[in-house]
Amino acid sequence: MSDILFIKHAAQLLTISGNTDKPAKTDAMRELNSIEDGGLLAKDGEIIAIGTTEKIQAKYADEIAQAKQIDASNKVVSPGLIDPHTHLVHAGTRENEYAMRLKGKSYMDIMHAGGGIHATTRATQQANYDQLYHESKLRLDTFLTNGVTTVEAKSGYGLTTEHEIKQLEVAKQLNKDHVMDVVSTFMGAHAVPVAEKENPDIFVDRVISEMIPEVAKRNLATFNDVFCERGVFTPEQSRRILEAGKEYGLIPKIHADEIESYGGAELAAAVGAISADHLLKASDVGIRQMAEQDVIGVLLPGTAFFLMAEFAQARKMIDQGLAVALSTDANPGSSPTLSLQFIMNLGCLKMGMTPEEVITATTINAAHAIGCADKIGSLEIGKQADITIFNVPNYLMLSYQYGMNHVDTVIKKGKVVVEQENLSTCNRHVSSV
Ligand code: NIG
Ligand code: FE
Repeated sequence: MSDILFIKHAAQLLTISGNTDKPAKTDAMRELNSIEDGGLLAKDGEIIAIGTTEKIQAKYADEIAQAKQIDASNKVVSPGLIDPHTHLVHAGTRENEYAMRLKGKSYMDIMHAGGGIHATTRATQQANYDQLYHESKLRLDTFLTNGVTTVEAKSGYGLTTEHEIKQLEVAKQLNKDHVMDVVSTFMGAHAVPVAEKENPDIFVDRVISEMIPEVAKRNLATFNDVFCERGVFTPEQSRRILEAGKEYGLIPKIHADEIESYGGAELAAAVGAISADHLLKASDVGIRQMAEQDVIGVLLPGTAFFLMAEFAQARKMIDQGLAVALSTDANPGSSPTLSLQFIMNLGCLKMGMTPEEVITATTINAAHAIGCADKIGSLEIGKQADITIFNVPNYLMLSYQYGMNHVDTVIKKGKVVVEQENLSTCNRHVSSV
């Protein structure tokens, strides 16, 4: 018997349709293609009809008679949120460094003194597979209850072939076991190990000649990322690593221009990266080159917030034609959050994005940033039925009532996987003034 789901009477059903072939830019980022009194029918995990409730009821009476039905009156239905940049698999937390930063120490000073990424690397190397799996699984559970149905996950806290592979094996297994989809990125070039500080090129050579071939042979990643920043990897080292990955079929991504303007955005355009992420200090030339080459800008305002830095210039980037996606950057050092909804709030309040743009940036554009837009990121016939229902009567409320989890129901591949109506009751009896 087939598995049928019918969602009816959505106050607003945000389809975000029309941008499956290419990411949404400028005006298209503000077009959510919302349907009032919206309905959606999914069969065996795939969307088979979408439109007004009335139209679907008229045409699909037989299917609806067999379907599980969800009444989304007074609620917003959107594609499941997608987080295109996380450091999901790691061990431990770094609240001690947070306290140091509050007293004035900088993120980079802490890292150069052997803390920061190095601290999490030590913890991750020491953790066995099962510990890493368990910690990371709990994070996925939290993402899911916060409305996210797909995440990207990077390695980069192993820094040896053995431990990078351990991290990627955990992500691969979680992709199989967990209801969420996990898309993997190899990031062996996340930091130069402390012991090799004086000879970074030897480490770069090892990433290229040992780690990348092994990761590719075991089919452990889709993307290859590098932290291109002064004192970490130079643009030239980053270019070598990204070009080497391309020879093994790994698609380039870059942590670019986070702390200072360092040519990362320009490099992303030159190597044909799918995305350049952070971009707090990206140059105008770099942004223009990215837009010309269709590189997506993945912005991580949680990191600017948590590091008390200046935010990326999202408004300017979007107006200049850059396709923008948003992500948590979830990691224990620079952005220890699992709330993509809060990141959407920051997008509006701190980066000048509109409420429509932040939704596009966490759905279809996020899907493009991880190469999955053919199956997720919008509610269209033929796509996977990954759906988040928010307990708000209109989408403006998502960024208006900030820092809250508005999720009511999460559906993954046509199945209800989260139902938490009782957690968010404040909007049941209110009406807008
Ligand atoms: O994207 N900037 C580099 N990497 C991560 C932070 C990693 C960490 O501090 O553990 C980021 O912000
Ligand atoms: Fe990151």
